[in-house]
Amino acid sequence: MDNIRLLLVDDETDFRAPLKKRLQKRGFAILEAGNGDECQAVMEDTPVDVVVLDVKMPGMSGIEVLEWIKDNHQKTEVILLTGHSSASDGVEGIKQGAFDYLTKPVEFDHLVQKIGQAVEKSRRDAEKQQEAAFKAKMEQQMISTERLASLGTLSTGIAHEIDNPLAIIKESAEYMRLLLGKAEHADMPRKSDFENAVGKIETAIERAKRITHQLLGFVRKPETFFAETDLKVLVAETVEFAVKEAENKGIQIVQDMAGVNGIIWSDPYEIRQVLFNLLTNAIAAIGSDGTITVSLKDTDSRTMLIVEDTGEGIPKENLEKIFEPFFTTKPPGMGTGLGLYVICGIIERLGGKIDIASRVGKGTRFQVTLPRSRETCGDMGDNKDICVDILNKIKGDPAK
Ligand SMILES: Nc1ncnc2c1ncn2[C@@H]1O[C@H](COP(=O)(O)OP(=O)(O)O)[C@@H](O)[C@H]1O
Ligand SMILES: [Mg+2]
Repeated sequence: MDNIRLLLVDDETDFRAPLKKRLQKRGFAILEAGNGDECQAVMEDTPVDVVVLDVKMPGMSGIEVLEWIKDNHQKTEVILLTGHSSASDGVEGIKQGAFDYLTKPVEFDHLVQKIGQAVEKSRRDAEKQQEAAFKAKMEQQMISTERLASLGTLSTGIAHEIDNPLAIIKESAEYMRLLLGKAEHADMPRKSDFENAVGKIETAIERAKRITHQLLGFVRKPETFFAETDLKVLVAETVEFAVKEAENKGIQIVQDMAGVNGIIWSDPYEIRQVLFNLLTNAIAAIGSDGTITVSLKDTDSRTMLIVEDTGEGIPKENLEKIFEPFFTTKPPGMGTGLGLYVICGIIERLGGKIDIASRVGKGTRFQVTLPRSRETCGDMGDNKDICVDILNKIKGDPAK
């Protein structure tokens, strides 16, 4: 009966005091109140597990106090003490949500037994509540994964369809450029306007192709090439690519790989893509002046690649959407909304997982966990659920 907090509410001190002593001997932590008001004051201050409540008191009646408890502290169980001649109070109390009632004079062992049962019930209720909350969360996650999967299928289908006409537009643009270059068109009126227009078409085609390629890459049947991959070298090389742009914006990229072995069995090209996308996002999130820290950490069978930035952070309402294809907060033309979606696909293929923690105005941390060897690829859980995993972490793990 350790750690159980019990509140005795009775106006008769002569009754309360000896009961308190005996209950304390049994290991209960006892709080006391002489009337309804005191009971409320105690409970506002300290959570209690069980209230032993006298029905007949001056001021608020026990039944009124019971109603208040059930309205304000649902988890607390109440055992009523009624007079011999007023069993009807007890029945009324049970209707109002009391755990049970005992008639005075109270048989001590009987009371202790009832308290034990009340505590047991409140534990069971708490467990049931937890189970229900867990179930609701799982269902929510199922919906998110399914939505992500169907969005993926849809957008890949669109990418396929767009690729063909895009190829034709590209060919035609090349043909126009060829014609414009011919001697017979040397004196064509407004020739440079035509050339500019063709230039714009070419740029737009390039952009559209980047999008379709990224999308198709997401579902590409894994021609993932697993090989011995030195993450330390890979990080250093990839950071090199981003350093120039970062420096121009006053952003420092710090590498923290001390004491890490960093050799894993994975696909270096795909990891490079992941890191590059994360770095690009981090630079964009900072805008100017800040720090990006790229670190490696080893656990027994996995290695973590962490990219942490001091950027704008991600608001809660966006956290569930950032892995969806085409979700972007960047101005038109600046982002594709595919970077994180692509990352999701890659990490799934590599048998890893990604966790994220973010605080608006403070920064964001993306943590990619990769299996170190072929053997451990399997025990990262069901990787189809990777995006679920992400969403799960998002909800429960604010950045430190
Ligand atoms: N490090 C980060 N800090 C803040 N927001 C981020 C970060 N990384 C991604 N995001 C958010 O997620 C969105 C989607 O990212 P991404 O899929 O890479 O597409 P894009 O970068 O093209 O917008 C971004 O537009 C941004 O709102
Ligand atoms: Mg991006």
